[in-house]
Amino acid sequence: MRASWRQILVSGFGGLVLVVVVLQSRDIGLANMYGDYIVEHSGLWAIRFLLISLLMTPLNTLLGWRWAIGLRKTAGLWAFGFALLHFVRYLSGVIKVIDLQLFRQDYVVLGLVALGILTAMALTSHRFAMKRMGKRWKQLHRLVYAAGIVMMVHALVAYANTKRAFMGDQRVTVEVLIYLAALVVLLMVRVRFIREAVGQIRGQLKMGDAPATPHS
Ligand code: HEM
Repeated sequence: MRASWRQILVSGFGGLVLVVVVLQSRDIGLANMYGDYIVEHSGLWAIRFLLISLLMTPLNTLLGWRWAIGLRKTAGLWAFGFALLHFVRYLSGVIKVIDLQLFRQDYVVLGLVALGILTAMALTSHRFAMKRMGKRWKQLHRLVYAAGIVMMVHALVAYANTKRAFMGDQRVTVEVLIYLAALVVLLMVRVRFIREAVGQIRGQLKMGDAPATPHS
């Protein structure tokens, strides 16, 4: 199947973000006194791309933008890519500088659970797996919401352990809490009665826009 221009745009954006994160890490220094630039920013971009991916279904169901469905996978794969970069970068730090005791931290376990779900989803994101897995495919891909919640709790706890948080810099905490609220809203719009209510409001708005029928 050929990629649409929208998919190319999302992929191009993901690539651009990746280049900017890597280039900025060179300017700022890979590991500054506050932590590792790539670990910090790839983690946040993984969350942002996951939210972009989850936004696509409501754009289709609530607004009727069918093209949005095609972007779910592209954005989801970028979320996985950034999460993998975050993990690999962290791992290289653990092996070189820190010690393996860090793997016992609760937030690291949460991060591994979220990454495990994203990995399973990325590996089964093609048509062949979808056909072979049947019902189980849907069940597996529903776990994306659990992954979203787990990764945000991971980010909040991990950040609370960083030097920046101790120094009173709470920007990441505020940002992740906003993402968590957005995730809850995205979950709620999947609930049937909320979907139906939005559908009714849209229908009424459309009727309001329609030109009045002339009296005979
Ligand atoms: C889907 C998977 C994951 C996501 C979305 C994610 C996201 C994040 C975010 C947003 C932060 C806060 C960044 C900041 O300080 O500005 C963070 C911190 C951190 N994460 Fe993850 N993470 C994931 C998986 C993992 C895994 C698997 C590990 C390690 C095994 C890990 C290790 C860490 C560490 C050590 C920090 C603290 C970094 C620091 O010193 O600032 N993460 N993560």
